[in-house]
This record gives sequence, structure tokens and C-alpha cells, in this order.
Amino acid sequence: MADGTKDTKSSNQMWGGRFASGPDAIMEEINASIGFDKKLFAQDIRGSIAHATMLAHQGIISVDDKDKIVHGLSTILSEIETGNFEFSRQLEDIHMNIEARLAALIGQAAGRLHTARSRNDQVALDFRLWVKEELQKTEAMLTTLIAAFLDRAEEHAESVMPGFTHLQTAQPVTFGHHCMAYVEMFGRDRSRVRHAIEHLDESPIGAAALAGTGYPIDRHMTAKALGFREPTRNSIDTVSDRDFAIEFLSIAAICGMHLSRLAEEIVIWSTPQFGFVRLSDAFSTGSSIMPQKKNPDAAELVRAKTGRINGSLIALLTIMKGLPLAYSKDMQEDKEQVFDAAESLELAIAAMTGMVRDMTVNTQRMKAAAGSGYSTATDLADWLVREAGLPFRDAHHVTGRAVALAESKGCDLAELPLADLQSINPAITDKVYEVLTVEASVASRKSFGGTAPSEVRKQIAFWRARN
Ligand code: ARG
Repeated sequence: MADGTKDTKSSNQMWGGRFASGPDAIMEEINASIGFDKKLFAQDIRGSIAHATMLAHQGIISVDDKDKIVHGLSTILSEIETGNFEFSRQLEDIHMNIEARLAALIGQAAGRLHTARSRNDQVALDFRLWVKEELQKTEAMLTTLIAAFLDRAEEHAESVMPGFTHLQTAQPVTFGHHCMAYVEMFGRDRSRVRHAIEHLDESPIGAAALAGTGYPIDRHMTAKALGFREPTRNSIDTVSDRDFAIEFLSIAAICGMHLSRLAEEIVIWSTPQFGFVRLSDAFSTGSSIMPQKKNPDAAELVRAKTGRINGSLIALLTIMKGLPLAYSKDMQEDKEQVFDAAESLELAIAAMTGMVRDMTVNTQRMKAAAGSGYSTATDLADWLVREAGLPFRDAHHVTGRAVALAESKGCDLAELPLADLQSINPAITDKVYEVLTVEASVASRKSFGGTAPSEVRKQIAFWRARN
């Protein structure tokens, strides 16, 4: 103020001791995080209850003050949960909003809660707890998606479809085998999630501002109370580390990429030209102008959400890359990236689970497509190696000529008369026709992890037991 006295009305209640005036409106706007970090209210309250309980146990605050604090925090929790809490931007963030309310509710004792901690370890704790819960949720959602694929794989262990490379017909496979490819991908995503939970399972609280504290705190006690395996081991690292958030985003980006590939396949498969699958009405939309259309919007949006998730990963990596140790306010920008990616990932997994469960598989269309495009050419070459003793390279050449002949006649390999095949190589007998059907081709691929229905069933059993 003009006379040099402190403007107590507008300087910050929590840290304004040395400030003569409150912040500029723009300062308040750029500084405040309450608009998004209010999502951390439950974690903040759990953390504070554990901290206060430990402080009393160690004789750092009185049991009476601890009781008041715990009671006040429980009241605040229900106020927020029932929508009866007024968040204030002047109070910057969730930590100070809750502490200010606690002071209003219980008076002086509230001021003892912040003993032996800083907002730096407090936010590290709240955010870690949030990310841990999100990872646990993701793990459960992936398990549900995997289960949906296992059911479809079982149902279609024998349904043949064309397998593609370069999106060109390659060799026949089964739809069950194709579904199991996604089980492998989402299974790896799930184990990445499990590893990430193990990695972050250390409690930051008690690192204080960056150097630890002189109060005789017990960090093992708070770690245990909050469900962490152990406390973190270096106070500087603790307040400057956001690896756990970046790891979540990396996992989300990889999983998003898998979901996006599946989304792309569903978009292709559901075109009238392919007609391999039909999406349920529940997971498609119509066109406002073309009445015949049924659009795979959910799949397209899953494909697009991946872009957002990738953006969040790059944003947080970039926010963190030049920061000196320990805490810098830049790190406040970590939360929106993670919240947005988490919401996108949850939606994408849920929508995909619904689509996979509901879609109708047109096995006739798949089978017809599997038989066209000379998809059993490799089987003819393998037969020549096995039955006529040709080296594979020669067999490949002979088969190429057979394909060219079939193409010129406008027929399939299996429709070429024996005399035509023998004109290319006299060692061919009528036994060859047994391997030229798609069913025979698929059934012959019994190598471990191959597409034969017997193998696919083994892999399904493996994953069912693994869940
Ligand atoms: N709102 C802050 C954040 O999200 C809390 C930590 C503030 N710490 C500080 N030293 N200003 O990072």
C-alpha cells in the first residue's frame, strides 16, 4: 500500500508474509492451478490425514490438534464430494484451498498441519497417488478388453480370413488368430502398466521442500499408511521427479497406438467393399444427408484420441527437459497433460471393448476373400518342396508361373486343371489340390504361435490362465 503497510486483504494468506500487496490479476491467472488440480482433492486429504497422524505419533503436534485436523479434513472431504465447497482462485491450488478451509473450520490447529512438509512434497504425493489409481483402473480396463478379444477368438478359432502384408492378401489366417494378435498387444500394455505401478510405489511425503526436515518424522509410517511399498530415498529427486507421469503417458501412447491400429482395421473391415464386420448400432452413427450410411465414428475417434495422447507425452517431456533440480513451477503444467490423456485413454479402451464385443463378423465374406488373391500360393510352393523335393527357390518360381497362368485364365489356383499344372512341372500330382484350399492351408500352420486352429486354441487357454 502507499503508506508501506501490508495489504492483508489481498496478499496471499499462506505465503504472503513478506509481500506488501497481492498479485496482479494476470499473475493470479497464470499462477493458479485450482481450475484443474481440484481433481486431486481426495488424494490431498488422504495425504494430510496420514501426515498429521504421523506428526502426532512422533510427538511433533499434540493428539488433540491431530484430532481436530483429521475431523476438519473429513468435513472438507464431504463438502467437496457433495458440491458444497467454494474453490477460490486467489488461494492458487488445491493444497491451499483445503488448508484455508481447515483454518476456517478448526482455527489455529490448522496451522500445525504444514509442519515438516512443503507443497513440493505434497503435490508430488497427491499426483503420484492419482497416477497410481489411474494405472490400476487402466489395468482393470485392459483386462476387460483382453477378455472380450478372448471370447471373440474362441468363437472364431476356425473362421478363415485373408492375412495381409502391405494390406495385400498374403496367406489365409483365422479371425481368431488375428484377435489373438491384439491380445498379445494389450497384454504387453497391461504388463507395462503393472511395471509402472511397481516403479512409482514410493512415498514422496517427508522430502519437504527439497532437503528433508529437521523434525523427527517417520516416513516409513506415512508410506505404509498411504499404501506405498516404501518411502523415496532422495529428497531432491523426490520433489523434482515426474518420471511416473511421463511413464504413464508413454504407456498411454503405446496403448493408444495399438488401439488406433485396431480402429483403423475396423474402419477398413466395416466398409461395404470389405464387409468383414458390421458394427452394432450402439457403436456407429448415420449420415445427415446420405441415408444408406453407417459410419464407424467411434473407431475414428479412438484413432484420433491417440493424437491427443501423443501430444500430452511430448508436452510433458518438453516441460521437464531443461529443468534444473529440484522443484520449478513449470512442473505445475504436468497435471493437465496427464488428466487429458487419462480421460482419452479410458474412453478409447471402453469404446473399443464395446465395439469388439458387439460387432457382427461376416465369416462368409471373410472366407471368400481368403480364397481369392492366390493366397495359397505359398502352400503350393511348400508342397513342391515337401513332395517333389524341389529347393524352395525353384518351387517359388514354379508357383509364380502357376499363378501367372491362373491369372491369365481368370481362375483360382485350385481351379487350374492338373494338365496345366503338370505343364509347368511334371512332378505335380492330383494330391496337390489337398493343400490348395484355405482350410488346409490354415490347418497346416501348426508351428508354435501359428494360425492353425489347434494352436490358436492353445494360446487362448494360455491367456485365460494368465488373467
Ligand atoms: N500448485 C503447485 C504445483 O502444482 C504446487 C506446488 C507449489 N510449490 C511451490 N513451491 N510453489 O506444482
